[in-house]
Amino acid sequence: MKIAIIGGGPAGLYSAILLKKQRPEAEITVYERNRADDTFGFGVVFSDATLDNFEKYDPPSYRRITQEFAYWDDIAVHFRGTVHRVGGNGFCGCSRRKLLLILQERARELGVTLLFETDIDNEARFADADLVVLADGINSRFRDKYIEHFQPEVNVRSNMFAWMGSTRPLDAFTFIFQETEWGPFIAHAYQYEVGRSTWIFETDPVTFKRAGLEGLSEKQSSDRMAQIFGWFLEGHQLLTNRSMWRNFPMIRSKRWVKDNMVLLGDAKATAHFSIGSGTKLAMEDAIALADAMHRAPTVDAALQQYEEGRREEVEKTQHAADVSLVWFEHVDRFWDFDPVQFAFGVMTRAKAITYDNLTLRAPDFVAEVDKAFARQVRAKGFEVDVEKPVAPMFQPLRLREMELANRAVVSPMCMYSAEEGVPGDFHLVHYGSRAIGGAGLIFTEMTCVGRDARITPGCTGLWNDEQEAAWRRIVDFVHTNSAAKICLQLGHAGRKGATKLMWDGMDRPLEEGGWDVLSASPIPYFPDSQVPREMDRDAMEAVKAAFVAAAERGERCGFDMLELHCAHGYLLASFISPLTNQRADAYGGSLEGRLRFPLEVFEALRAVWPAHKPMSVRISATDWAEGGITGDDAVDIARAFAEAGVDLVDVSTGQTVRDAQPVYGRMFQTPFSEQVRNEARVATMCVGNITTSDQVNTILAAGRADLVALGRPHLVDPSFTLKAAAWYGAAEVFCPPQYLPGKEQIFRNSVRDRQDFDDLKIKAKPKTRAELKAEATKPLAAE
Ligand SMILES: Cc1cc2nc3c(=O)[nH]c(=O)nc-3n(C[C@H](O)[C@H](O)[C@H](O)COP(=O)(O)OP(=O)(O)OC[C@H]3O[C@@H](n4cnc5c(N)ncnc54)[C@H](O)[C@@H]3O)c2cc1C
Ligand SMILES: Cc1cc2nc3c(=O)[nH]c(=O)nc-3n(C[C@H](O)[C@H](O)[C@H](O)COP(=O)(O)O)c2cc1C
Repeated sequence: MKIAIIGGGPAGLYSAILLKKQRPEAEITVYERNRADDTFGFGVVFSDATLDNFEKYDPPSYRRITQEFAYWDDIAVHFRGTVHRVGGNGFCGCSRRKLLLILQERARELGVTLLFETDIDNEARFADADLVVLADGINSRFRDKYIEHFQPEVNVRSNMFAWMGSTRPLDAFTFIFQETEWGPFIAHAYQYEVGRSTWIFETDPVTFKRAGLEGLSEKQSSDRMAQIFGWFLEGHQLLTNRSMWRNFPMIRSKRWVKDNMVLLGDAKATAHFSIGSGTKLAMEDAIALADAMHRAPTVDAALQQYEEGRREEVEKTQHAADVSLVWFEHVDRFWDFDPVQFAFGVMTRAKAITYDNLTLRAPDFVAEVDKAFARQVRAKGFEVDVEKPVAPMFQPLRLREMELANRAVVSPMCMYSAEEGVPGDFHLVHYGSRAIGGAGLIFTEMTCVGRDARITPGCTGLWNDEQEAAWRRIVDFVHTNSAAKICLQLGHAGRKGATKLMWDGMDRPLEEGGWDVLSASPIPYFPDSQVPREMDRDAMEAVKAAFVAAAERGERCGFDMLELHCAHGYLLASFISPLTNQRADAYGGSLEGRLRFPLEVFEALRAVWPAHKPMSVRISATDWAEGGITGDDAVDIARAFAEAGVDLVDVSTGQTVRDAQPVYGRMFQTPFSEQVRNEARVATMCVGNITTSDQVNTILAAGRADLVALGRPHLVDPSFTLKAAAWYGAAEVFCPPQYLPGKEQIFRNSVRDRQDFDDLKIKAKPKTRAELKAEATKPLAAE
């Protein structure tokens, strides 16, 4: 077998090694345009898990690599004169140059031919090769040559970065967030061998310009960085090696394989440097390719297996890297945070590290985070304990005069079980049990302001006395038997009206018994949905009056709070999104125009809703669709509602158009809440695939939302909050007297269960290489 590998970076060399081990008889050649030791970059970083993989696949190179390594366990965050350190991270750094020399040596030993100073510009010379590996890096000539086939998507990010080195020793992966007269600068730094550390500097484009970095030579820009970070460098030099400022390109390729050619490493996909995974991905690609070549009967089948088997893992890493890079791009959102809360945000930015996980690894750090959170709550006038505070989830919140005992919320969820809009016994038990279950706030399902405003025949309403009496019964029950507050969500279905019950076909038009539907523009949801009537001024007045009348009924029912539903493609949302609003009048066009009617309705409600009671608005912060609402629009939308008197923005997303492309995942809507909260400076509630109290605490402690709503988890667990309170020892959580023996038992058992669980987790966690090394080099204690 003949294998040609274009590119002698980590991906190319490691694939050469693994393939040669597998097929000693194969003729494998690596073509590299640079000289053997002519390599850019400083250190590379691997996690313990990646090193385990290297150990398994090629012990000789693993041993040589790890002999050269610098190990560290801590992450240190420097911000506004403070430093917070968190241990248990298990990372190792190594010189990129040494890594490549080790891989070259190992490849030679195995019989791979390495041809340096050989720039390949045409793969036709490999016509007789069985396999051509395209490991030619981020600017891959061959990916671009077959651009139509590989279909790379290159997203050039806004921040500028430069890769430098230093002689400054470091004992932790170090993030330095530095305020300057021009704006914020960030250094990501780590040691990779004795006396050498990697320094990646990052800043936003405006600060970059203001700092006069544009057009500076390498030396001039490293001098400028040395000036900015001089206090930390302590006289050590910054070193450069092709350290030009650039923008990071996020690259994803639709296809990785063409005939017998395969893209590997940076050539196929990149991962932002802030999670230190570029070299890891490149070498793990090589492992995946070698595995596929081992298993599959033919090269074609192997390449197909490689692409199918590897894609999910790469995309997961890329997703984590994207989330992380977005955090760094928007660091100004957190710049005025308490430093410990800021550091918590840095640690938890990419979702893998959470509140509970940090509590195990760095209990003192989390205790400080809790205290900072409690101090903020105390500053709002609550008599909370700041020395031994409860977890953020159990801290109270005030909106106008409504006080919530905790931050857990039952998200609005239609039960599709009303008769002519009247909530019945099912609703009483449903809302009642969730209130007793301990959540601070319960939302009603979307309650419709008129018969024709309903989504389905099973939706609740609040347009007549019978409905009002039924809701009053529920509100009374909640107030009498729980500490929960209850918020009425009012809505109008718009073009999604006259559709079937969820279990009969969500959003599908009713076959019989339907009614006429309205929308901003006459665009049906599905092609076979009813074409809605475009609302004229009279219709707008009538709808507004219906909302006002329902709010007045809501006040008579005793609801504590009112939410206006402007999300999910329903009537008011249909005005806000340009995808559903094509009006030529004052209620269409710009965002200002599209917001006009929803704001008119909001203002009319605010005028009748008692001034001491809060109001929220639910928005779709993105349509997940080309040309639709984006996170930036959501900030403007939130600002407009805040000016009109909204107290909380309930940040949801999507459901505007049926061909949207949402990117689901754990806590997938939380970034929008974070953006709205910290850019528009308005309180937010986040929601969406949040399933654990650990996530709730992580979100709150990092300042990504003020309240956290859970929908589906509450459908199966009304006592979600009570159980979480037991887990975190938040004894103040409300429990009705009838259930107190149960509360006592779960609190007693939880202390033990949690201890057992933590012990198990600690025992199951293998020691990091840094810990093992520290143990091995520890002087023996005197007897
Ligand atoms: C300026 C810079 C500095 C970096 N520094 C670091 C760092 O310090 N630490 C870190 O972890 N990561 C660093 N990275 C990222 C890291 O290099 C990559 O994620 C990782 O090396 C990817 O490995 P690869 O083998 O896919 O690509 P690369 O390492 O880029 O290797 C591709 C190789 O292909 C060769 N090549 C390209 N085209 C041809 C051709 N036509 N013919 C022959 N040879 C060709 C190139 O010369 C190169 O050696 C840096 C990236 C850049 C751009
Ligand atoms: C059965 C069901 C009904 C829902 N009905 C409503 C509703 O009436 N109003 C609303 O704003 N959102 C509604 N939603 C959306 C939820 O409030 C929530 O935003 C969504 O389920 C995501 O949160 P989760 O991942 O915690 O379930 C509904 C969700 C479900 C599962």
